[in-house]
Amino acid sequence: MSSGQIGLWLIGAKGGVATTVMTGLAAMARGLAPPIGLVTETEALRPLDLIGCDAIVVGGHDIRPGSVVEAAQRMWTESRAIPPELLTAVTADLEAIDARLRPGSVLAAGDAIGALADASILARRETPRQMIERIRDDICRFASDNDLKRVVVVNLASTEPPWTAPIPADYATVAAQLYQPAAASPLPTSSLYAIAAFEADAAYINFTPSTGATPPALDALARERGLPHAGCDGKTGETLLKSVLAPMFAARNLDVMSWVGHNIFGNLDGRILDDPANKAAKVQSKDHLLAALLPTPPQTLVSIEYIESLGDWKTAWDHIHFRGFLGTPMTMQFTWQGCDSILAAPLVIDLVRLVDRARQAGECGQLPWLASFFKSPLGCTEQAFAAQVGLLQTWIATQTISR
Ligand SMILES: NC(=O)c1ccc[n+]([C@@H]2O[C@H](COP(=O)([O-])OP(=O)(O)OC[C@H]3O[C@@H](n4cnc5c(N)ncnc54)[C@H](O)[C@@H]3O)[C@@H](O)[C@H]2O)c1
Repeated sequence: MSSGQIGLWLIGAKGGVATTVMTGLAAMARGLAPPIGLVTETEALRPLDLIGCDAIVVGGHDIRPGSVVEAAQRMWTESRAIPPELLTAVTADLEAIDARLRPGSVLAAGDAIGALADASILARRETPRQMIERIRDDICRFASDNDLKRVVVVNLASTEPPWTAPIPADYATVAAQLYQPAAASPLPTSSLYAIAAFEADAAYINFTPSTGATPPALDALARERGLPHAGCDGKTGETLLKSVLAPMFAARNLDVMSWVGHNIFGNLDGRILDDPANKAAKVQSKDHLLAALLPTPPQTLVSIEYIESLGDWKTAWDHIHFRGFLGTPMTMQFTWQGCDSILAAPLVIDLVRLVDRARQAGECGQLPWLASFFKSPLGCTEQAFAAQVGLLQTWIATQTISR
């Protein structure tokens, strides 16, 4: 089932997570790094016979100048997260990926992301339909040039502001509106990329809180084309802990009165999330699960602050105020200090392998059994981490029985 090579097309290919995915895949293929952090390398998933990490060819779109090699090197020079010897050992692999990158689009991405873009990207005058066709053709060319069996597109681009305009529920109406000028785009950039992915016969993963393939009209398009997709917003740190701890408070009938989470970090993602419009999408994604996990929704506060010196290292400090027997108040606090891209990259690789496996098994549309990987899982209301992992285990069992 896992023979041949597949393509991984990254939207946001010069970002911290994307370049860590590239570095990690190359390092593992060269036998220079163990697969720590990859769920798909655990014993329980072995029977799935997933595509090998050394059989994934990477390409992608970005909007900024500079090379993938330079971007990857910042994981050492700015964040002290990936040793320089490892980066040097995979430089040739990263240069090969650089040659496969194509210019992206900021057609409806908002001002903060537009400010990142190269002048040549800003100078493009495209309708949403023209943008989709250009992006689609790039992905198709990537597949044919590299003789790839299948392609998975992953959105790792900067988080867009929430899209507030109504999106028609049926795809035919959306499709008709794509011929309007850019200023009247019916969808944000992340959704236009998702349409391009589906038109290029690629599966799609949204690792960000941006809209992507979430609207029902885009899910309908994916189903019509027999393609799976998954999202939204990778669950890598503070929110992962929320989804582990909140079910414990509920199971012990402890009354959580308030839950405050302060997040500080300093990478480019943090700089974009410093813009109030872009921050709103992330705060909503980090906050909403507590109301679903606790019997009485507590007062919550999520803050995200950009502190440049921290680079890719995020500190989350959470303060949980709860009541026990006889109404006695107590407090739990935790501090999470994680390297964001190092936490996220193995999950991206896991998702690519699992979504590709689902496609081979004939699945299309949303994949709710991947809920444990996401803050806002599509097609799944379950938010408790252990129960979400149960969904994955059940799916694995059905796959191994049916083979
Ligand atoms: N632990 C984590 O790191 C984590 C967890 C969950 C979600 N995410 C999300 O994943 C995304 C990537 O995170 P990151 O730390 O790599 O961010 P980053 O800022 O380092 O990288 C984002 C990249 O996307 C590019 N980009 C922006 N808009 C684009 C567009 N329209 N088309 C093509 N490229 C575009 C930027 O130029 C940049 O290179 C963010 O949206 C982030 O919120 C990250």
